[in-house]
Amino acid sequence: MNQSAVGSLVPRQAPGSYGLPFVSAIRDRLDFYYFQGEAKYFESRVEKHGSTVLRINVPPGPFMARDPRVVAVLDAKSFPVLFDVDKVEKKNLFTGTYMPSTSLTGGFRVCSYLDPSEPTHAKVKQLLFSLLASRKDAVIPAFRSHFSSLLATVESQLVLAGKSNFNTLNDFTSFEFIADAYFGVLPSASDLGTTGPTKAAKWLIFQLHPLVTFGLPLILEEPLLHTVLLPPIFVSGDYKALYKYFYAAATKALDMAESLGLNRDEACHNLLFATVFNSYGGLKVMLPGILGRIAEAGEKFHQRLAAEVRTAVAEAGGKVTIEALEKMELTKSAVWEALRLEPPVKFQYGRAKADMNIESHDAVFAVKKGEMLFGYQPCATKDPRVFGSTAREFVGDRFVGEGSKLLQYVYWSNGRETESPSVDNKQCPGKNLVVLVGRLLVAEMFLRYDTFTADVGVDLLGPKVEFTGVTKVTSGPGA
Ligand code: HEM
Repeated sequence: MNQSAVGSLVPRQAPGSYGLPFVSAIRDRLDFYYFQGEAKYFESRVEKHGSTVLRINVPPGPFMARDPRVVAVLDAKSFPVLFDVDKVEKKNLFTGTYMPSTSLTGGFRVCSYLDPSEPTHAKVKQLLFSLLASRKDAVIPAFRSHFSSLLATVESQLVLAGKSNFNTLNDFTSFEFIADAYFGVLPSASDLGTTGPTKAAKWLIFQLHPLVTFGLPLILEEPLLHTVLLPPIFVSGDYKALYKYFYAAATKALDMAESLGLNRDEACHNLLFATVFNSYGGLKVMLPGILGRIAEAGEKFHQRLAAEVRTAVAEAGGKVTIEALEKMELTKSAVWEALRLEPPVKFQYGRAKADMNIESHDAVFAVKKGEMLFGYQPCATKDPRVFGSTAREFVGDRFVGEGSKLLQYVYWSNGRETESPSVDNKQCPGKNLVVLVGRLLVAEMFLRYDTFTADVGVDLLGPKVEFTGVTKVTSGPGA
């Protein structure tokens, strides 16, 4: 159907049923985690109802979520309604239909849980923009120093054991890197020592356990992870230790916060959250995602990346600069393609502010004020109506040249890749930093190696990558 014709259709009810209260929500949760798995859960329901906009239950359901019922938007056309803060309210729904206790964040509702209509949202978001701007020259040197030592460890582990787990090394390295980049103080050189990443991971689990499975038997996981929220008291010591690091390391940022009218304590809990949950949590998932996709793309693709990276760096006098990275069209495309296929944050929510109509490619649906809208991003960013028959494949050069027109359908940052975060919207303020870090990883790899191999599997929150071999550079500025 042509697009203008869709707009003239009479709105109808989205298909699908929530089933019986309580019982069906639990049954659906079991489908989601154990019987079907995440992707199949959504895809099978789209197929059953012949619609990409439909009514379903989402996990975790009882007893953590008061109401699991949502209207799901699962195609590239309907999904962006979730970005429109005139149409949806984004209050307290960062993690979805449940909200972790504010005891995990010092008693504050941090930025991710605030709607732009709340005055603190703009202040905290502005603080983050200012922090990132003030530290922009620190990012590349910090990344290169931390990740070149990670790769040196990979090489020695390959010699000793024939394999090297990237995720394990990345968990430590990304924590050090991001704190170093933002505050210039290494957590490992503070009282935290090397315990930061473990404390961070524990605190993240206390917030995200309703949405994950450890692959344990259902009989254990259901009562432990998916029925009630874990008591914050069991992680309060870890959180206090992390807070202490931030309060001491982020002095300049906290001064900035006060000048924006924020209280120092509230600002510090927000900086902790933005660094540990948003940034570190994101990098834990994103970097293995990018590496895994590039590993699977094979040697010929690696040769093209290596040629591009080395030429741009040579032209910049042997330095990795923002300008050099900007010239790397294939590298940029490959990072976006990985983010399209593996958006690190897969679920987005928004509550309808008023009665409205939502358009899919084929139909128009009426939604009532107060209904919860939900998007499972991989369905939207693998939409064959936009990305064609290769929608589910990694096409490394998809966004090069004319292909850049498709960037408007890349949604990983809770907004279109062609749009920018602001204090008035809910798009990720780390957007530019995140793509920069992705490009830096690719550049670092191909300044050092001609090619590499890895086994790619699945980890708790995303992909798992184990290096099985690297071929050191034989020519060019990296040799
Ligand atoms: C919001 C993704 C890194 C700070 C978001 C949202 C997404 C996202 C999807 C919107 C969530 C929602 O409202 O539904 C990611 C990914 C990252 C990443 C995938 C890395 C791979 C960062 C970094 C920062 C950051 C580096 C550092 C400043 C935030 C904040 C919000 C946010 C504060 C809330 C924005 C607001 O309230 O307006 N991010 N993010 N994120 N992100 Fe990121």
